[in-house]
Amino acid sequence: MSESSNNKKNKEDRRKFIVTTTIGASAACALFPLASGIPSLLDPATKESGNTEVPWTKITKLASLPKDGTPTKFEVILAKVRDAWTTYTNIPAGAVYLARSGDQVTAFNLKCPHLGCAVDYRKKSNDYFCPCHNSTFAIDGSVTTENSPSPRGMDTMDTKVDKGVVWIRFQQFRPNIAEKVPV
Ligand code: FES
Repeated sequence: MSESSNNKKNKEDRRKFIVTTTIGASAACALFPLASGIPSLLDPATKESGNTEVPWTKITKLASLPKDGTPTKFEVILAKVRDAWTTYTNIPAGAVYLARSGDQVTAFNLKCPHLGCAVDYRKKSNDYFCPCHNSTFAIDGSVTTENSPSPRGMDTMDTKVDKGVVWIRFQQFRPNIAEKVPV
């Protein structure tokens, strides 16, 4: 067989192979719709990035919070953080202000919703103040600055008190937008 007819035959074989495998893969996906998702089901990174619930984190005892509602600052240590392959323990994740009202507790993220500076509690005026661009917030977390740099009030999180212990669902939120969007 001449070299040119050899080339012709090779080209023909390659074309047949591509057509056959493409049709085969399409047919498999049509017959078994889940087949197209098999790689992602097998990939642990994809499994971990699913829509999981924010875990509860233990912060302190209810009795340690002032009964008059004065906010107290606490560091948040996550007991367990998992990525695709590793589990980390006792990871510092941020800080919160906790304020008690009877047996209820409110949690504010310490990060300013403007650009993320640490917000201070001012005992004298009983409010919150961000020193970076002078946003002020009332004791309930709402914005009090006229033309506030911060587009929203301080970010709250879910809290619960169980057997005298305060737990929160710690979250960070996107800075500098009016809506509270978890990151
Ligand atoms: S970061 Fe708080 S006012 Fe800008």
